[in-house]
Amino acid sequence: MRLVLQLACAASLVVSVACGGSGVAPGTPGGPPIVVRFTHVAADFTPKGQAARAFAELANERSDGRLDVRVFPSGQLFGDRDEIEALQGNNVQFIAPSIGKLISFDPRFQIGDLPFLFSDNAAESRFWDGEAGRALLQSLEPQDIVGLATWPNGMRQLMNRTRPIHTPADTRGLKMRIPSGGLLVDTLEAFGAGASVIPFTDVYTALQQGVVDGTIATFDNIEVEKYAEVLDYLTVANVNSLSYGVLVNKTFWDGLPADLRQILSDAMDEATVLARRLATELDETAMASLKATIDVVELTPEERQQFVDASEGVWTKYTPILGQDLLDAALRVNE
Ligand code: LMR
Repeated sequence: MRLVLQLACAASLVVSVACGGSGVAPGTPGGPPIVVRFTHVAADFTPKGQAARAFAELANERSDGRLDVRVFPSGQLFGDRDEIEALQGNNVQFIAPSIGKLISFDPRFQIGDLPFLFSDNAAESRFWDGEAGRALLQSLEPQDIVGLATWPNGMRQLMNRTRPIHTPADTRGLKMRIPSGGLLVDTLEAFGAGASVIPFTDVYTALQQGVVDGTIATFDNIEVEKYAEVLDYLTVANVNSLSYGVLVNKTFWDGLPADLRQILSDAMDEATVLARRLATELDETAMASLKATIDVVELTPEERQQFVDASEGVWTKYTPILGQDLLDAALRVNE
């Protein structure tokens, strides 16, 4: 019996809890809970923060004390540079980075970054829920990662301190912050700007200190991170859409008792519905409140077309990288 318990405890190290002196395996009724850490870089009250908290509360309540899901917002545990590695090492069990940050595994994860591809976040969610999107997320499994859901955060806009942006001619010479490299670098360059990858938690300071002249960002992040305190101009360009991949360590996930995995999976489904609703609502309210505080440029159809035309070379370069089939699947969700 003792050997069985020792083995159970050794296995449970994978879920990052020590057995302590009780001799009862974590997650067993009456035993200590399995501690599950969920880290992300956004603020606690963003749609991502609220959905992560709802996920934790639902799972903790329904598991009757067998799970202790803890959420660490604002990059408290890990930031952009190390959270994926921490997930693979099972030092944290859940993360929710913007999907383009998975570029090092496969350049196709940049699909949502392609300028003017998805008509809105709902379209991007339909893509990730569909066959092609699910297959792409499943391709993470050999990396010890399971993609459980995607949560949207709105369309990305252009913000800067120097001048109002109406056309690509206005972005010329500006240095802009981007969350990840590759396709976003090419997009900003196609607009005549320079681009610099800066971790999310460092963006406000980088903008304040003039390390960069501006940033691409969603209304939600612009408002919550208070970029309008340090930047003067916002252009509603809807350049691309930001969605998060909610990822779990696969060894941890597969090693869970089936009933606890089901509880987490159901809680994730409900949190996903919440995340999607909150993101849509907040996108609208944040836009309205930003208009009261900062110079907002809304592009005319002709101005917007100039950005679309400038992006043509990015599409040409990335069509073979993303693959025509994936692109076709993405284009279909706009219909
Ligand atoms: C970014 O780096 O801009 C975003 O991915 C941050 C976030 O998590 O909203």
